Amino acid sequence: MSLDLSDQIVLVTGASRGIGRAIAQQCAAAGATVAVHYGQSADAAADVAVRCGPTAQPFQADLTALDATEALVAQVLRAYGRLDALVLNAGVARSMPLAAPTEAWAADWNDTMHVNLRAPELLCRAALPHFQAQGHGRIVGIASRAAFRGDVPDYMAYAASKAGLVALMRSLARGFGSDGIKAFTVAPGFVRTDMAQAFIDQFGEGIVRDDLSLNELTEPEDVAPLVAFLLSGGADHATGTTIDINAGSYVH
Ligand SMILES: NC(=O)c1ccc[n+]([C@@H]2O[C@H](COP(=O)([O-])OP(=O)(O)OC[C@H]3O[C@@H](n4cnc5c(N)ncnc54)[C@H](OP(=O)(O)O)[C@@H]3O)[C@@H](O)[C@H]2O)c1
Repeated sequence: MSLDLSDQIVLVTGASRGIGRAIAQQCAAAGATVAVHYGQSADAAADVAVRCGPTAQPFQADLTALDATEALVAQVLRAYGRLDALVLNAGVARSMPLAAPTEAWAADWNDTMHVNLRAPELLCRAALPHFQAQGHGRIVGIASRAAFRGDVPDYMAYAASKAGLVALMRSLARGFGSDGIKAFTVAPGFVRTDMAQAFIDQFGEGIVRDDLSLNELTEPEDVAPLVAFLLSGGADHATGTTIDINAGSYVH
């Protein structure tokens, strides 16, 4: 079976770095036209767009801002006239101790919830009428192992936001399957990116490696092929499912 996304226009959020960059490049390698979303890393996003081939374009949107988030799907539709798939990958994981001042605590929860859960919800809301009208659409939410097992106390907001994303994907699968729309969750464990590095810097490499059954930490390129496969249609009847990619940490 070959992976062919050549008839698809795919919006990947947070495609400037880490897992999103690998997903964008994997989808492009399978023939997709990729809308490369980014927040602040304009140069990196431009580089990813170049690597994704002549049809790829970068799109900027700060996913903490309601208006910019809502406008992103419309921008992509204006540029390409169509959208077939949405990969909800952009995310933040910020450390926030219980003892932090209430204002900082609340701001952190707000930002985390907005980028990790509200932005996906708003992007889906913007894309759904288009998917319904064309009779198809696929959505992949990049959640986290933390959605299921929780996280360390300083990252409770992160875990809670990702649990919400799982419920959002399942609701979309249930509610819009009859419109030809499929929704999946991918739940990575630690993946070697800037986000994981911040956690390693705080807690040490041991906390990342000790759980694994495999010898190597997961790389972004270990996650991307699964996302491309989900977008290919090869797993449409698994809509609503969650797939763990955590180097065997659940069975360790
Ligand atoms: N790495 C892990 O260990 C791990 C484990 C489980 C799940 N995940 C999930 O996988 C996804 C990707 O993580 P990663 O490790 O690749 O993270 P990363 O390297 O930190 O990259 C995060 C991406 O999200 C974008 N982003 C963050 N805040 C944004 C905002 N306010 N507005 C717009 N874009 C924003 C960034 O864009 P700019 O740089 O352009 O602003 C960047 O492209 C996240 O949802 C994360 O929760 C990661």
